[in-house]
Amino acid sequence: MAISLRTQVGIVGAGPAGLVLSHLLYLQGVDSVVLENRSREYAEQRVRAGVLEQGTVDLLTEMGVGERMKAEGLVHYGIELRFGGRGHRIDFQDLTGRKGITIYAQHEVLKDLNNARIASGGQVLFEVENVSVHDFDGDKPRIRYQKNGTPYELTCDFIAACDGFHGICRPSVPPGILTVYEREYPFGWLGILADAPPSSEELIYTYHDRGFALLSMRSPHISRLYLQCKPDANIDLWSDDKIWQELQIRLASDGWTLTEGQITQKGITSMRSFVVEPMQYGRLFLAGDSAHIVPPTGAKGLNLAVADVQILARALKHFYSTGSRNLLDTYSEVCLRRVWKVQRFSWWMTSMLHRFPDENPFDQRRQLAELDYVTTSRAAAKTLAENYVGLPLE
Ligand code: FAD
Ligand code: DHB
Repeated sequence: MAISLRTQVGIVGAGPAGLVLSHLLYLQGVDSVVLENRSREYAEQRVRAGVLEQGTVDLLTEMGVGERMKAEGLVHYGIELRFGGRGHRIDFQDLTGRKGITIYAQHEVLKDLNNARIASGGQVLFEVENVSVHDFDGDKPRIRYQKNGTPYELTCDFIAACDGFHGICRPSVPPGILTVYEREYPFGWLGILADAPPSSEELIYTYHDRGFALLSMRSPHISRLYLQCKPDANIDLWSDDKIWQELQIRLASDGWTLTEGQITQKGITSMRSFVVEPMQYGRLFLAGDSAHIVPPTGAKGLNLAVADVQILARALKHFYSTGSRNLLDTYSEVCLRRVWKVQRFSWWMTSMLHRFPDENPFDQRRQLAELDYVTTSRAAAKTLAENYVGLPLE
């Protein structure tokens, strides 16, 4: 017999979406339990995103989890677009009315959120097994799982599916309900972390004949760099020397040097655009990567996950304080309007900056014209800047 438990909102997944939702609900007086199948150590070390939009920074600060981010995060007010061996700055502060971005690693955000949840008596259960979701088309959804071999059944009012792209919630929705919109890209990103001071104060997005390259960072001593590679590239065939050599070629610019250092981590990420509609079914709500994936070129994935759960927390608060399902019923519709704009931006940045295997010289000239336009027209630069620092929530 399973042990029966109860909460108001059952949350599957302790990534950014699940933890931000849980803490927002706590601040609104709503009870939740977060179920995570990995260990806390694993989640707090996994290298992923690093760019936080202004809205994400503001939210984390308002939630009381922004102290370390404020002390250690690097605030940037622009990025560089580099092509033809020359750099062109997009000035966010000027173009967006003083907005910026903060460089602060996703796993640091997770550490801050886990600490805050635990300090406020929150329930985040790590290393749970065999999580499954049931009866969310009725009034009493349930989540079944095991912890240390003991079976549990958690009855809740609502289930938040924050279990990422490979989670179990989305596939548990009955067939015929969800429509998938998807595109895969014919390349991937090879990413490294290196013990090297960043060679630029701001991020550099580079278009080069040999493919895209990105210079980013994690601290004044740690660089994070990415290279466009084949989608099925074998990381073992990319020696550290070969990675630095390729970065040197693609990022080269007169009078500028790329400082190398010990590579401490490397990996390959595939690239896709993916959306399911609707993002809800009965009392199950999909949020973050469980509902959508963007290619990383605009640094949007984490920020989009945080925006979804802000909308969901608002709707749940409304439900618990008034009994009205109005905002819950429009959750998907409201999220998707923003999701599709962010999909468009991520696709556009990706298309502008990467080499495509089926392109012809016309396409290359068009990409260069686009880069030229974006870096010389104030209207075009403003479009990039307002999307990059983050579109407002409705
Ligand atoms: P996740 O972070 O995937 O969290 C889902 C959680 O659910 C995980 O902890 C997982 O273990 C858990 N889970 C899965 N299945 C189960 C189950 N069956 N039971 C219980 N728990 C389960 N985004 C940006 O905004 N900016 C960037 O600069 C950026 N760079 C990136 C670079 C890389 C290399 C990668 C890979 C991603 C990057 N992203 C970036 C994307 C960003 O990391 C994701 O969009 C973000 O993690 C989504 O958060 P989430 O909470 O929705 O999902
Ligand atoms: C980083 C990742 C991105 O996808 C991006 O566009 C910019 C920076 C990063 O990991 O630092």
